[in-house]
Amino acid sequence: MYKKIQSCLESIRKETDFKPQVGLVLGSGLGNYADEIKVEKTVEYKDIEGFPISTVKGHKGRFVFGYVGEVPVVIMQGRVHYYEGYSMSDVVLPIRLMGLLGAGKIILTNAAGGVNSGFSAGDFMIITDHITTGVPSPLIGPNIEELGTRFPDMSEVYSKRMQGIIKASAEKCGIKMQEGVYVQFTGPNYETPAEIKMAARWGGDAVGMSTACEAMAAVHMGLEVCGISCITNMAAGISEVPLNHKEVQEIADRVSVDFKRLVTEVVMNV
Ligand code: HPA
Repeated sequence: MYKKIQSCLESIRKETDFKPQVGLVLGSGLGNYADEIKVEKTVEYKDIEGFPISTVKGHKGRFVFGYVGEVPVVIMQGRVHYYEGYSMSDVVLPIRLMGLLGAGKIILTNAAGGVNSGFSAGDFMIITDHITTGVPSPLIGPNIEELGTRFPDMSEVYSKRMQGIIKASAEKCGIKMQEGVYVQFTGPNYETPAEIKMAARWGGDAVGMSTACEAMAAVHMGLEVCGISCITNMAAGISEVPLNHKEVQEIADRVSVDFKRLVTEVVMNV
C-alpha cells in the first residue's frame, strides 16, 4: 500500500510541486467550490497511476491546487466511497496523499442524515466525534510504519482547536451551527428506521457514508482534522417520507452558498 501511495505521489509531483497547507474534501453541495478559488493546477484522478476513481454520477474526480485567500490548499473534488467496492485502504488513499503532499490540516465535509430530533434539513453540524462500528477500520492490514503507529490514539479525532475556528467562523458569517457525533455506515442504501434508532441510542447525531474513515487515516498520520456535515435530510424513521438521492442533492444545493462562505472563512483562519 505504501508503494502504491508513493507511486501516486510521484505521478502528482511530475505535474506540480505545489505545497498545500490545508487539504479540503468536498461533499455534496460543495462540489463546485473549487471553481471559486484561485486555481494553480488541477490533476485528474484518472491521470494518477493506481488512484481509485469514483463511480458516483455527478461526482467530479480531481485534485485542485490553489489558494483560498493567501492559503495554499489542495481540494479533493470528488471522493471515493466504500460502497463503490473499494477496499478501505483505497478509500483513504487520497487523504494520505494530501498529507504527503504537505497538507498538515484536513477539512472534511459531507452530506448527512439528521438523527438528532433537534436538527432540521439544511442545518450544518460541527463533527465533534464519530462512531465507525458500522464500517471496517481503514487501518486494518499491515501497519504503514512510515505514516504512523500500529495502535493510534483516537481520543480527539476532530481537533478542538479547529472546532473552535468553525464555531467562530460560523458566527462571523451569521450561520447557525449544530454540533454532534457522526455515525458512518457503509451505504449505498440509506439506513432502516431501526438502524437509525440504534444510532441514536449509541449517541449519534448524524449518519453518513464517508468521512469518519478519512478522519481516522488522517489522525493516524498525525494530521489535524475537522469535519462539517450538511444535514440534507432527517434520517429514516425520523422523517416520515422515504429518502432519495435527488432530494438530498437539492437541499445540499440550496444551502451551498452558505456552506461555501463558511468553508472559506474556516480555511482562511485555520
Ligand atoms: N443516511 C446516510 N447518508 C446520508 C444521508 C442519510 O440519511 N443523507 C445524506 N447522506
